[in-house]
Amino acid sequence: MSEIESLKGQLDSLQTAALVAFAQAEDLSALQQLRVHYLGKKGALTEVLKGVGKLPPAERPVIGQYVNQTKAALTQALELSEAELAVKGKALRIEAERLDITLSGRKQAVGALHPVQQGLDEITAIFAQMGFAVAEGPEIEDEFHNFDALNIPPEHPARAMHDTFFLKDLHSDSGEPMLLRTHTSPVQIRTMKRFLAEHGEPPLAVVAPGRVYRCDYDVTHSPMFHQVEVFKVDRDVSMAHLKGVLQHFLSTYFEKEVGIRLRPHYFPFTEPSAEVDISCVFCAAKGCRICKGSGWIEVLGSGMIHPNVLRSVGIDGDEFSGFAFGLGVERLVMLKKGIPDLRLFFENDVRFLRRMGVSK
Ligand code: DAH
Repeated sequence: MSEIESLKGQLDSLQTAALVAFAQAEDLSALQQLRVHYLGKKGALTEVLKGVGKLPPAERPVIGQYVNQTKAALTQALELSEAELAVKGKALRIEAERLDITLSGRKQAVGALHPVQQGLDEITAIFAQMGFAVAEGPEIEDEFHNFDALNIPPEHPARAMHDTFFLKDLHSDSGEPMLLRTHTSPVQIRTMKRFLAEHGEPPLAVVAPGRVYRCDYDVTHSPMFHQVEVFKVDRDVSMAHLKGVLQHFLSTYFEKEVGIRLRPHYFPFTEPSAEVDISCVFCAAKGCRICKGSGWIEVLGSGMIHPNVLRSVGIDGDEFSGFAFGLGVERLVMLKKGIPDLRLFFENDVRFLRRMGVSK
Protein backbone atom coordinates (compact mmCIF):
# COMPACT_ATOMS: atom_id res chain seq x y z
CA MET A 1 0.00 0.00 0.00
CA SER A 2 1.33 3.40 -0.96
CA GLU A 3 2.08 5.94 1.75
CA ILE A 4 -0.83 8.16 0.73
CA GLU A 5 -3.33 5.27 0.77
CA SER A 6 -2.13 4.33 4.22
CA LEU A 7 -2.63 7.89 5.45
CA LYS A 8 -6.13 8.04 3.95
CA GLY A 9 -6.92 4.75 5.66
CA GLN A 10 -5.74 6.16 9.02
CA LEU A 11 -7.84 9.27 8.51
CA ASP A 12 -10.90 7.14 7.64
CA SER A 13 -10.64 4.98 10.75
CA LEU A 14 -9.94 8.07 12.89
CA GLN A 15 -13.10 9.69 11.52
CA THR A 16 -15.22 6.57 12.11
CA ALA A 17 -13.94 6.16 15.65
CA ALA A 18 -14.44 9.86 16.38
CA LEU A 19 -18.02 9.95 15.07
CA VAL A 20 -18.96 6.93 17.17
CA ALA A 21 -17.31 8.46 20.23
CA PHE A 22 -19.07 11.82 19.72
CA ALA A 23 -22.43 10.15 19.35
CA GLN A 24 -21.91 8.21 22.57
CA ALA A 25 -20.64 11.10 24.67
CA GLU A 26 -22.66 11.33 27.89
CA ASP A 27 -22.38 15.05 28.45
CA LEU A 28 -20.73 18.27 27.30
CA SER A 29 -17.58 17.80 29.35
CA ALA A 30 -17.03 14.33 27.87
CA LEU A 31 -17.51 15.87 24.45
CA GLN A 32 -14.95 18.55 25.26
CA GLN A 33 -12.41 15.87 26.14
CA LEU A 34 -13.09 14.11 22.83
CA ARG A 35 -12.59 17.40 20.95
CA VAL A 36 -9.16 17.75 22.58
CA HIS A 37 -8.41 14.10 21.93
CA TYR A 38 -9.17 14.25 18.20
CA LEU A 39 -8.74 17.87 17.15
CA GLY A 40 -6.43 19.33 19.82
CA LYS A 41 -2.89 20.54 19.12
CA LYS A 42 -1.48 17.22 20.31
CA GLY A 43 -4.51 15.27 19.22
CA ALA A 44 -5.01 12.24 17.00
CA LEU A 45 -5.45 14.28 13.82
CA THR A 46 -2.20 16.16 14.42
CA GLU A 47 -0.55 12.82 14.99
CA VAL A 48 -1.68 11.57 11.57
CA LEU A 49 -0.57 14.84 9.97
CA LYS A 50 2.97 14.12 11.06
CA GLY A 51 3.03 11.44 8.34
CA VAL A 52 2.29 14.02 5.65
CA GLY A 53 5.88 15.23 5.71
CA LYS A 54 7.00 11.85 4.42
CA LEU A 55 4.96 12.22 1.24
CA PRO A 56 6.37 13.45 -2.01
CA PRO A 57 5.55 17.20 -2.39
CA ALA A 58 3.15 16.55 -5.33
CA GLU A 59 0.88 14.40 -3.17
CA ARG A 60 0.79 16.74 -0.22
CA PRO A 61 -2.06 18.98 -1.51
CA VAL A 62 -4.15 15.86 -2.15
CA ILE A 63 -3.80 14.60 1.37
CA GLY A 64 -4.12 18.18 2.63
CA GLN A 65 -7.57 18.38 1.14
CA TYR A 66 -8.45 14.97 2.57
CA VAL A 67 -7.36 16.10 6.00
CA ASN A 68 -9.49 19.22 5.72
CA GLN A 69 -12.53 17.13 4.80
CA THR A 70 -11.93 14.87 7.79
CA LYS A 71 -11.50 17.90 10.06
CA ALA A 72 -14.71 19.47 8.73
CA ALA A 73 -16.63 16.23 9.21
CA LEU A 74 -15.39 15.95 12.81
CA THR A 75 -16.14 19.59 13.59
CA GLN A 76 -19.65 19.30 12.19
CA ALA A 77 -20.32 16.09 14.11
CA LEU A 78 -19.02 17.74 17.28
CA GLU A 79 -21.32 20.71 16.90
CA LEU A 80 -24.29 18.46 16.32
CA SER A 81 -23.54 16.35 19.40
CA GLU A 82 -22.93 19.50 21.38
CA ALA A 83 -26.33 20.88 20.43
CA GLU A 84 -28.03 17.58 21.24
CA LEU A 85 -26.32 17.34 24.61
CA ALA A 86 -27.22 20.94 25.41
CA VAL A 87 -30.89 20.17 24.80
CA LYS A 88 -30.69 16.91 26.72
CA GLY A 89 -28.90 18.64 29.58
CA LYS A 90 -31.62 21.27 29.84
CA ALA A 91 -34.32 18.63 29.85
CA LEU A 92 -32.48 16.75 32.60
CA ARG A 93 -32.09 19.90 34.66
CA ILE A 94 -35.76 20.75 34.33
CA GLU A 95 -36.67 17.23 35.36
CA ALA A 96 -34.30 17.40 38.35
CA GLU A 97 -35.61 20.75 39.48
CA ARG A 98 -39.23 19.79 39.01
CA LEU A 99 -41.56 20.85 41.87
CA ASP A 100 -44.58 18.79 42.76
CA ILE A 101 -47.26 21.44 42.96
CA THR A 102 -50.10 18.93 43.00
CA LEU A 103 -50.40 18.85 46.83
CA SER A 104 -53.94 19.96 47.53
CA GLY A 105 -54.26 23.33 49.29
CA ARG A 106 -55.90 23.98 52.63
CA LYS A 107 -59.60 24.71 52.26
CA GLN A 108 -60.85 28.05 53.54
CA ALA A 109 -64.15 27.70 55.35
CA VAL A 110 -66.75 29.81 53.59
CA GLY A 111 -68.97 31.83 55.89
CA ALA A 112 -72.67 32.43 55.42
CA LEU A 113 -75.49 34.29 57.08
CA HIS A 114 -76.93 32.98 60.33
CA PRO A 115 -80.28 31.22 59.81
CA VAL A 116 -82.08 33.97 61.76
CA GLN A 117 -80.56 36.65 59.55
CA GLN A 118 -81.48 34.61 56.47
CA GLY A 119 -85.05 34.41 57.79
CA LEU A 120 -85.19 38.16 58.49
CA ASP A 121 -83.92 38.96 54.99
CA GLU A 122 -86.31 36.50 53.34
CA ILE A 123 -89.35 37.76 55.23
CA THR A 124 -88.48 41.43 54.72
CA ALA A 125 -87.92 40.84 51.00
CA ILE A 126 -91.37 39.30 50.52
CA PHE A 127 -93.01 42.45 51.92
CA ALA A 128 -90.64 44.78 50.10
CA GLN A 129 -91.70 43.05 46.90
CA MET A 130 -95.34 43.78 47.74
CA GLY A 131 -94.45 47.48 48.02
CA PHE A 132 -93.93 47.83 51.78
CA ALA A 133 -91.16 50.26 52.72
CA VAL A 134 -88.49 48.95 55.13
CA ALA A 135 -88.13 50.89 58.40
CA GLU A 136 -86.20 50.44 61.63
CA GLY A 137 -86.43 51.84 65.12
CA PRO A 138 -84.24 51.99 68.24
CA GLU A 139 -83.79 48.94 70.48
CA ILE A 140 -83.61 51.23 73.52
CA GLU A 141 -87.09 52.70 73.81
CA ASP A 142 -89.13 54.85 76.14
CA GLU A 143 -92.38 53.78 77.76
CA PHE A 144 -94.39 56.08 75.56
CA HIS A 145 -93.47 54.37 72.27
CA ASN A 146 -93.25 50.83 73.64
CA PHE A 147 -96.51 51.01 75.63
CA ASP A 148 -98.58 54.21 76.01
CA ALA A 149 -98.85 55.14 72.34
CA LEU A 150 -99.82 51.54 71.60
CA ASN A 151 -102.84 51.83 73.88
CA ILE A 152 -101.13 50.07 76.79
CA PRO A 153 -101.52 52.62 79.63
CA PRO A 154 -99.68 52.26 82.97
CA GLU A 155 -101.26 49.55 85.17
CA HIS A 156 -102.48 47.75 82.04
CA PRO A 157 -101.97 44.00 82.61
CA ALA A 158 -100.29 43.70 79.19
CA ARG A 159 -97.30 45.61 80.60
CA ALA A 160 -96.68 42.90 83.18
CA MET A 161 -96.93 40.23 80.48
CA HIS A 162 -94.12 41.79 78.51
CA ASP A 163 -91.35 40.87 81.01
CA THR A 164 -89.62 44.14 80.29
CA PHE A 165 -85.93 44.84 80.85
CA PHE A 166 -85.79 48.35 82.32
CA LEU A 167 -82.59 50.36 82.01
CA LYS A 168 -82.32 51.71 85.57
CA ASP A 169 -79.86 54.49 84.90
CA LEU A 170 -81.39 55.78 81.67
CA HIS A 171 -84.25 58.24 81.41
CA SER A 172 -85.88 59.97 78.47
CA ASP A 173 -85.84 63.78 78.12
CA SER A 174 -89.18 63.90 79.91
CA GLY A 175 -87.79 61.79 82.78
CA GLU A 176 -89.46 58.52 81.84
CA PRO A 177 -87.59 55.27 82.44
CA MET A 178 -85.99 53.73 79.35
CA LEU A 179 -86.25 50.07 78.44
CA LEU A 180 -85.27 47.48 75.86
CA ARG A 181 -88.18 47.33 73.45
CA THR A 182 -90.31 44.25 74.04
CA HIS A 183 -91.70 44.19 70.50
CA THR A 184 -91.29 45.95 67.15
CA SER A 185 -94.73 47.59 67.42
CA PRO A 186 -93.21 50.92 68.64
CA VAL A 187 -91.73 51.25 65.12
CA GLN A 188 -95.36 51.74 64.01
CA ILE A 189 -95.57 54.86 66.14
CA ARG A 190 -92.18 56.27 65.18
CA THR A 191 -92.65 55.59 61.47
CA MET A 192 -96.18 57.00 61.33
CA LYS A 193 -95.07 60.19 63.11
CA ARG A 194 -92.09 60.63 60.79
CA PHE A 195 -94.18 59.87 57.71
CA LEU A 196 -96.92 62.35 58.65
CA ALA A 197 -94.36 65.08 59.33
CA GLU A 198 -93.02 64.58 55.80
CA HIS A 199 -96.14 63.74 53.81
CA GLY A 200 -99.05 65.09 55.86
CA GLU A 201 -101.30 62.04 55.62
CA PRO A 202 -101.44 58.32 54.75
CA PRO A 203 -101.20 56.05 52.75
CA LEU A 204 -98.16 54.26 54.09
CA ALA A 205 -97.18 50.60 54.14
CA VAL A 206 -94.19 49.51 56.21
CA VAL A 207 -92.21 46.41 57.14
CA ALA A 208 -90.00 46.78 60.23
CA PRO A 209 -87.58 43.97 61.13
CA GLY A 210 -85.50 44.01 64.31
CA ARG A 211 -84.34 42.66 67.67
CA VAL A 212 -86.58 42.65 70.71
CA TYR A 213 -85.96 41.75 74.36
CA ARG A 214 -87.88 40.01 77.10
CA CYS A 215 -86.76 38.66 80.44
CA ASP A 216 -87.55 35.01 79.68
CA TYR A 217 -85.56 31.88 78.86
CA ASP A 218 -86.68 28.32 78.05
CA VAL A 219 -87.17 25.98 75.07
CA THR A 220 -89.43 28.49 73.33
CA HIS A 221 -88.22 31.80 74.79
CA SER A 222 -84.96 33.69 74.49
CA PRO A 223 -84.18 37.04 76.20
CA MET A 224 -83.33 38.44 72.77
CA PHE A 225 -85.20 37.44 69.66
CA HIS A 226 -86.37 38.94 66.39
CA GLN A 227 -89.69 40.24 65.14
CA VAL A 228 -90.99 41.68 61.94
CA GLU A 229 -93.75 44.27 62.24
CA VAL A 230 -95.93 44.95 59.20
CA PHE A 231 -98.63 47.60 58.86
CA LYS A 232 -100.52 49.59 56.34
CA VAL A 233 -102.71 52.70 56.78
CA ASP A 234 -104.95 54.13 54.08
CA ARG A 235 -108.59 54.94 53.39
CA ASP A 236 -110.83 51.85 53.44
CA VAL A 237 -108.24 49.32 54.62
CA SER A 238 -110.13 46.26 55.84
CA MET A 239 -109.47 42.85 57.35
CA ALA A 240 -109.80 41.40 53.86
CA HIS A 241 -106.60 43.27 52.94
CA LEU A 242 -104.95 41.90 56.06
CA LYS A 243 -105.96 38.36 55.19
CA GLY A 244 -104.86 38.69 51.56
CA VAL A 245 -101.41 39.99 52.53
CA LEU A 246 -101.02 37.23 55.14
CA GLN A 247 -102.09 34.53 52.70
CA HIS A 248 -99.59 35.71 50.10
CA PHE A 249 -96.79 36.16 52.62
CA LEU A 250 -97.20 32.80 54.36
CA SER A 251 -97.54 30.79 51.13
CA THR A 252 -94.49 32.53 49.67
CA TYR A 253 -92.42 32.05 52.81
CA PHE A 254 -93.30 28.35 53.23
CA GLU A 255 -93.03 27.81 49.47
CA LYS A 256 -96.38 26.05 49.32
CA GLU A 257 -100.05 26.92 49.48
CA VAL A 258 -100.78 27.03 53.23
CA GLY A 259 -104.26 27.32 54.70
CA ILE A 260 -104.71 30.23 57.14
CA ARG A 261 -107.20 30.86 59.90
CA LEU A 262 -107.84 34.07 61.86
CA ARG A 263 -108.90 33.39 65.47
CA PRO A 264 -110.40 36.21 67.55
CA HIS A 265 -107.91 37.41 70.16
CA TYR A 266 -107.02 40.45 72.20
CA PHE A 267 -104.17 42.91 71.68
CA PRO A 268 -104.37 46.41 73.14
CA PHE A 269 -103.15 48.05 69.91
CA THR A 270 -105.61 46.41 67.53
CA GLU A 271 -109.40 46.16 67.38
CA PRO A 272 -110.55 43.70 66.29
CA SER A 273 -107.53 41.49 66.91
CA ALA A 274 -106.80 38.03 65.62
CA GLU A 275 -104.22 35.36 66.10
CA VAL A 276 -103.25 33.77 62.82
CA ASP A 277 -102.83 30.02 62.38
CA ILE A 278 -101.46 28.17 59.37
CA SER A 279 -102.41 24.63 58.41
CA CYS A 280 -99.70 22.40 59.89
CA VAL A 281 -96.71 22.31 57.54
CA PHE A 282 -95.50 19.02 59.06
CA CYS A 283 -98.56 16.80 58.72
CA ALA A 284 -100.55 18.59 55.99
CA ALA A 285 -103.14 19.47 58.66
CA LYS A 286 -103.83 15.81 59.53
CA GLY A 287 -102.75 16.30 63.16
CA CYS A 288 -99.30 15.56 64.60
CA ARG A 289 -97.11 16.17 67.65
CA ILE A 290 -96.06 19.65 66.46
CA CYS A 291 -99.63 20.94 65.93
CA LYS A 292 -100.78 18.95 68.98
CA GLY A 293 -103.23 17.02 66.84
CA SER A 294 -105.17 20.13 65.81
CA GLY A 295 -103.82 20.49 62.26
CA TRP A 296 -103.16 24.22 62.94
CA ILE A 297 -100.11 26.13 64.12
CA GLU A 298 -100.24 29.64 65.55
CA VAL A 299 -97.76 31.92 63.77
CA LEU A 300 -98.51 35.58 64.52
CA GLY A 301 -100.69 38.29 66.03
CA SER A 302 -102.64 40.76 63.96
CA GLY A 303 -105.59 43.10 63.76
CA MET A 304 -106.98 46.44 62.67
CA ILE A 305 -104.95 49.26 64.20
CA HIS A 306 -106.83 50.60 67.25
CA PRO A 307 -108.29 54.13 66.79
CA ASN A 308 -106.41 55.17 69.95
CA VAL A 309 -103.12 54.23 68.31
CA LEU A 310 -103.95 56.22 65.17
CA ARG A 311 -105.00 59.12 67.39
CA SER A 312 -101.71 59.02 69.32
CA VAL A 313 -99.89 59.98 66.12
CA GLY A 314 -102.60 62.38 64.92
CA ILE A 315 -104.34 60.26 62.30
CA ASP A 316 -108.13 60.56 62.10
CA GLY A 317 -109.54 57.07 62.67
CA ASP A 318 -112.83 58.03 61.02
CA GLU A 319 -111.08 58.81 57.76
CA PHE A 320 -108.26 56.26 57.79
CA SER A 321 -107.91 52.67 58.88
CA GLY A 322 -105.05 50.26 58.97
CA PHE A 323 -104.06 46.67 59.59
CA ALA A 324 -101.00 45.53 61.53
CA PHE A 325 -99.33 42.31 62.46
CA GLY A 326 -96.19 41.20 64.22
CA LEU A 327 -94.41 37.89 63.85
CA GLY A 328 -91.56 36.09 65.58
CA VAL A 329 -88.75 35.38 63.14
CA GLU A 330 -87.17 32.48 65.08
CA ARG A 331 -90.53 30.75 65.27
CA LEU A 332 -91.10 30.99 61.52
CA VAL A 333 -87.56 29.77 60.75
CA MET A 334 -88.04 26.85 63.20
CA LEU A 335 -91.27 25.86 61.45
CA LYS A 336 -89.76 26.16 57.97
CA LYS A 337 -86.53 24.27 58.77
CA GLY A 338 -87.88 21.80 61.34
CA ILE A 339 -85.68 23.15 64.19
CA PRO A 340 -86.88 21.68 67.51
CA ASP A 341 -85.32 24.05 70.08
CA LEU A 342 -85.08 27.84 69.95
CA ARG A 343 -81.84 27.81 71.93
CA LEU A 344 -80.00 26.18 68.99
CA PHE A 345 -80.02 29.59 67.28
CA PHE A 346 -78.01 31.22 70.04
CA GLU A 347 -75.65 28.47 71.20
CA ASN A 348 -73.77 28.51 67.88
CA ASP A 349 -72.85 24.84 68.01
CA VAL A 350 -70.95 24.35 64.74
CA ARG A 351 -72.77 21.07 64.05
CA PHE A 352 -76.06 22.98 63.98
CA LEU A 353 -74.62 25.86 61.98
CA ARG A 354 -73.19 23.41 59.42
CA ARG A 355 -76.52 21.71 59.05
CA MET A 356 -78.09 25.13 58.46
CA GLY A 357 -75.53 25.85 55.74
CA VAL A 358 -73.82 28.56 57.80
CA SER A 359 -70.36 27.00 57.85
CA LYS A 360 -68.88 24.26 55.65
N1 DAH B 1 -96.46 43.24 69.34
C1 DAH B 1 -97.03 41.94 69.53
C2 DAH B 1 -96.12 41.09 70.36
O1 DAH B 1 -94.97 41.31 70.38
C3 DAH B 1 -97.27 41.26 68.22
C4 DAH B 1 -98.37 41.92 67.46
C5 DAH B 1 -99.66 41.53 67.61
C6 DAH B 1 -98.06 42.95 66.62
C7 DAH B 1 -100.70 42.10 66.89
C8 DAH B 1 -99.09 43.59 65.91
C9 DAH B 1 -100.40 43.14 66.06
O2 DAH B 1 -98.87 44.58 65.06
O3 DAH B 1 -101.39 43.74 65.37
O4 DAH B 1 -96.59 40.18 71.00
